[in-house]
Amino acid sequence: MKICIILGTRPEIIKMSPIIRECERQKLDYFIIHTNQHYSEKLDRIFFEELELPKPKYNLDIGSGTHAEQTGKALIEIEKVLIKGKPDIVLVEGDTNTVLAGALAATKLHIKVGHVEAGLRSYDREMPEEINRVLTDHCSDFLFAPTKKAKEILIKEGISKKKIFVTGNTIVDAVYQNIKLAKKKSKILKKLNLKEEKYFLLTCHRQENVDKKERLRGILDGLNLLYKKFTLSIIYPIHPRTKKRIKEFRLKIPEGTKLIEPVGYLDFLQLEANAKLVLTDSGGIQEEACILKVPCVTLRDNTERPETLEARSNILAGTNPEKILKEVETMLSKKRNWGNPFGGGGSGRKIVKIILKN
Ligand code: UD1
Ligand code: UDP
Repeated sequence: MKICIILGTRPEIIKMSPIIRECERQKLDYFIIHTNQHYSEKLDRIFFEELELPKPKYNLDIGSGTHAEQTGKALIEIEKVLIKGKPDIVLVEGDTNTVLAGALAATKLHIKVGHVEAGLRSYDREMPEEINRVLTDHCSDFLFAPTKKAKEILIKEGISKKKIFVTGNTIVDAVYQNIKLAKKKSKILKKLNLKEEKYFLLTCHRQENVDKKERLRGILDGLNLLYKKFTLSIIYPIHPRTKKRIKEFRLKIPEGTKLIEPVGYLDFLQLEANAKLVLTDSGGIQEEACILKVPCVTLRDNTERPETLEARSNILAGTNPEKILKEVETMLSKKRNWGNPFGGGGSGRKIVKIILKN
């Protein structure tokens, strides 16, 4: 049994890490293909180093581009490697262009596809990720749904129950495997002169937010209102996509918002675990905030993580400034006593076990 793990971006490296660790632990025959959709040191190499992951066997150097360029190039290059490497199964994780290209290349070569984090839906076809999720799920042979809700979604779409396995989300494994290390090793709070629960943490990079001037302006105006009300710093490890757009749209960073370079996983976990509240449009961060019991305000109109809304660890605020302030106040008035719907942290092992058994 030969396994091929395909990844390409920051969240895929983090969420695949528990599966890679399990393959290493069991000394399985496996190899990693990295498309290099993310290539900047702070979005890529830093995670391999911190999480002590083996170097990918193949780096495809796909880089940035339009959706068609990125997906098309990845499809062509992945196919070449799969023909050479002859794996029995390809694993992809999440909803990026790398995921779609990997799943499509494999299935057309009649190689089994396992989709980790299957069955998530925002029902918003404007998100490129939504198209990637739907298409990947429908060409997969093993669908590793993180929750029962995700499984039900897949069944409703006509996917056979036999292919679906509820495994929890590997992000829980990643958090549990690294949080103690983060507390011990990270010096980020000291470096930025931050005290526990005396700052907000922000991330924002989603195409439908930052590529639209009005939405991005709405978020920045919301940050302004937040600082006026709380006078607490808003720490923002800024994604290169957003940095580019802020410059292009000539938008001003509001007082109180402190931009920093993207940080590694240990620093980010430490920032997240100690924040008063997290504002984000990220998928993984909605989950992590829930796991770490830190309130989350999501700067979107929908989410493919409704479990976090039901748990009441998260609320949708969109990009209207007044609504952002209002929902921050709502979340701060709540107790942090919600449960974690994403499993107990053994998802990596579970997924590998299912693959070996089947
Ligand atoms: C991608 C995923 C998104 C995921 C995010 C994780 C798709 C469609 N989008 O979005 O789902 O949430 O990764 O962070 O797959 N850039 C750099 N250095 C890099 C990578 C990108 O500077 O290493 C800049 C480039 O200007 C590039 C832009 O960021 O054009 C966007 O990168 P891209 O990979 O297209 O999408 P993300 O916004 O990163
Ligand atoms: N993250 C990180 N450093 C940062 C910002 C995020 O390590 O500066 C981690 C975060 O802990 C989470 C993941 O990156 O696990 C989320 O990735 P991202 O928001 O880029 O993608 P998404 O989850 O939205 O696809």
